[in-house]
Amino acid sequence: MPGLAVVGAQWGDEGKGKIVDYLAAQADVVVRYAGGNNAGHTVVVGGETVKLHLIPSGILYPDVTCVIGNGAVIDPEVLVQELDTLQARGFRTAKLFISDRAHLLMPYHRDQDRLEEEARGAHRLGTTGRGVGPAYADKVAREGIRCSDLMDEAWLRQRLEAVVPRKSMLLQKLYGHPGVTVDEMMDYCLRFAPRLVPLLVDSGALVQDALAQGRRVLFEGAQGTLLDIDHGTYPYVTASSPSAAGVYSGVGVGPGAVTNVLGVTKAYTTRVGQGPFPTELTDATGDWLRERGGEYGTTTGRPRRCGWLDAVQLRYAVRVNGITQLALTKLDVLTGLDKICIAVAYELDGRRIDHWPALLSELSKVRPVYETLPGWSEPIGEVRSWEELPPAARGFIRRIEELAQVPVVCVSVGPDRDHTLVNGVISW
Ligand code: GDP
Ligand code: IMO
Ligand code: MG
Repeated sequence: MPGLAVVGAQWGDEGKGKIVDYLAAQADVVVRYAGGNNAGHTVVVGGETVKLHLIPSGILYPDVTCVIGNGAVIDPEVLVQELDTLQARGFRTAKLFISDRAHLLMPYHRDQDRLEEEARGAHRLGTTGRGVGPAYADKVAREGIRCSDLMDEAWLRQRLEAVVPRKSMLLQKLYGHPGVTVDEMMDYCLRFAPRLVPLLVDSGALVQDALAQGRRVLFEGAQGTLLDIDHGTYPYVTASSPSAAGVYSGVGVGPGAVTNVLGVTKAYTTRVGQGPFPTELTDATGDWLRERGGEYGTTTGRPRRCGWLDAVQLRYAVRVNGITQLALTKLDVLTGLDKICIAVAYELDGRRIDHWPALLSELSKVRPVYETLPGWSEPIGEVRSWEELPPAARGFIRRIEELAQVPVVCVSVGPDRDHTLVNGVISW
């Protein structure tokens, strides 16, 4: 039963899309288990760039079955637009399925996200503004609309009647929103039902059957461990469970379904939005990493905050996800630096600590204890084997393995599918 989960080990944008696309060549099924179109996964094949927000990064392979699990939230407008764009570019999308239990992201969720962020003022979270937080909040409040509700018009109307009038009142009274009616939302849902309903499946049953037949299933993470609602830098997190445990509830399978967990980490660190970031560089080196690494958001275009790799944070991600192996991305971006730093511990009020604090006021004031390693000057974008990497780059990778206590089995040296090196085997 080979099931491999690919999870972000940092604050998102680690290059999960690229790694999933690379590995999907060996997969039968690729499943997104969390998040919505707050995600932006960039895949480059033969110089052609595809940006995906909701649809799994396995979609570029015509024979791979792609599934969006119940743990994701679906903005139907974004889904339909993404499907149409892929089809217009000649990609086959006939093997895409969506969980009948996934929640719909409604137009009022987008308004709510924007209005709540405005109201938070200085306390804003820096969300992507896509409505993802409010959609998950309604799911947990038992006020969500699920994809399966689209299958029965009378039932759908009952659900909207239960939910929309109070939502409308809330938005009007709190934020001066013009309001929204049951009829408007009914029309909206019925507009998308013909495109969505034919794709609906029980994602757990589909994946379990595939695993039972010995097929290879890849679980594609969105966001990253430090954005996890439970394990991230709360409240500066997303509203779902992007870490590996999210696979089980977000697809509908048991713990045996995941045989290995591949953590994806950049060779440095980035973060979009607000919240603590111990190794952030607000100096020229931070700007250099942003420009060299093209660190501007795939979804919102916002400049990403940049800093050194943080082994305290990485060890935490290894533990939270049960990461068994690492993929290290964007190693090419570090070419040209005289020296490269890795945080190996923190200093908190004069004490050395090596754990990741829960209390945000502590996390905001820790000072990284850095270890400095030699850099390299050779461009490595065309390197295709471990042995060809400059000795200093190999030394950097070895040190990451020692600090994280897991092997680095894959290194990415450029955005394209071909810019990928594998050391030994990637275990499924
Ligand atoms: P994701 O959200 O984890 O899938 O990551 P994003 O796609 O949002 O951000 C990663 C960015 O880095 C994308 O623009 C990728 O094309 C690019 N990228 C991925 N791996 C590499 C790499 O090894 N080197 C370089 N230079 N770019 C990369
Ligand atoms: P991928 O899958 C990076 C961040 C937002 C914000 C916080 C909450 O591309 O790695 P939300 O809109 O989810 O309520 O915003 O989470 N965030 C991401 N940052 N990559 C992502 O996805 C993200 N998805 C959400 O910037 O700080
Ligand atoms: Mg991204």
